[in-house]
Formats: sequence, C-alpha cells, structure tokens
Amino acid sequence: MEPSPIIAPSILAADFARLAEEVRAVEGAADWVHVDVMDNHFVPNLTIGLPVVQSLRKATDIPFDVHLMITEPERWAPGFAEAGAYNVTFHAEACEDPFALAKTLRAAGAKAGLAIDRDTPVEPYLELLPFVDTLLIMTIKAGFGGQKFMPEMLDKVRDVRRRITAKGLEVRLEVDGGISADTIEQAAEAGADAFVAGTAVYGADDPAEAVRKLRAQVLHSGVRA
Ligand code: DX5
Ligand code: ZN
Repeated sequence: MEPSPIIAPSILAADFARLAEEVRAVEGAADWVHVDVMDNHFVPNLTIGLPVVQSLRKATDIPFDVHLMITEPERWAPGFAEAGAYNVTFHAEACEDPFALAKTLRAAGAKAGLAIDRDTPVEPYLELLPFVDTLLIMTIKAGFGGQKFMPEMLDKVRDVRRRITAKGLEVRLEVDGGISADTIEQAAEAGADAFVAGTAVYGADDPAEAVRKLRAQVLHSGVRA
C-alpha cells in the first residue's frame, strides 16, 4: 500500500543545474518527485525531456511522478515508463484514446495518470476512472510554476472524489498548481490525496522541512489520512 497522503515536490521550481542534489534534498520526506515535461506545443513553455529523467533515475530511488504537458503523448509516454517512472500522467486534452494509452502505460510497468487542465470539465472523463491509477486536477492553467491557486477548481476534485468513493475505486486524486501552506488544506478537504508543490517546497530554505509541514497540514485537516 502506498502511503497517504502523497506529497510530490515539483522540480520545476528547483535549480536545474543541480537537479540530482535538489531531488536528494527531499528524499526521506517526500513520497514522489514530480517532473513537469513541457513541449512548447501543448503549453507555451519548454522544460525537460526523457534524457534528463533517464539520468536522474540513476541518481535517486524516489518514485518519479512524470507530468506530460505535451501533444502526442502516445509517442513519448511509454519511454518514460521504460525509463523507470513510477507514474506517468498525460493530458486528456492532448490524447485521442486515453483508455488505450493508460493500458499501454500499465503494460510498460508504470501507473497511468490522466490530467485535466483548468478549462476542461471533468465529467466526460469520469468513465475512465476504473482504468487509471491517478487523476490529476490542475488548480491553475498548466504551463508555469508559481501561479495562484484557483479554489474554483475544487468542485472538480469533489466530483471525482464522490465518484471514486461511490465506485470503491483505488485512484489517486492529485492536485497541481499553487499548492502551499495556505491552500493545501482546502484541497485535502475537497478530497485530494496527492499534492504537487513546486514553489512551496523549492522556494523554501529547507525543502524537506517544507514537505513535512505540508504533510502535517493534510494530516491535521483530518481527512482521508
Ligand atoms: C505547472 C506544473 C506544476 C508546477 C507547480 O504547469 O504542472 O507542477 O510545477 O508549481 P507551483 O507549485 O509553483 O504552482
Ligand atoms: Zn505538474
């Protein structure tokens, strides 16, 4: 059984010249490290790709939570699974056949995640829940770190949590964007059980301590912990 809640620092807010060190700085405190892959097509930003994940995989044992903000995820997602990513999440908006891609990812040995961007309703995707391991709800518009959390996205989290509970499914419900000490409790109360935090972790003087504090807040919020 995976621990609950999951805290996943996003290395998008880390120092890219010292990535291995930055990942090791949260080892023992964080559950997953979140890796934001952007292609300047799906989102207007360009970050890191497969070779970086392959190299980083050798530098640490912490599970990687790869968030693909790319068009044609079918082309790249299996490579991240083969590189040893624990969870590979692709965007609903970018994928023609999410059911098939989730199946491919699982066959490649990874958990399969589906992400829903700010302007995308979640209802059309609820029927996919039994076929994915992670449902990621963006609490900002995907593309950049350091944006302001949007509480209005929590209605989607509540909807998905209701569905997961009603169907007795084992799906991680992850939130991403603007998660910090000021916002994590609202997200937990809405039903999230995995939390991505970039700026709130890597912008802190002590990233591991920031992770521990975020976890304590979720636990103290008294929901699904
Ligand atoms: C943005 C990324 C996020 C980002 C979060 O599109 O998906 O993972 O790193 O950064 P913060 O926590 O700073 O909002
Ligand atoms: Zn992300």
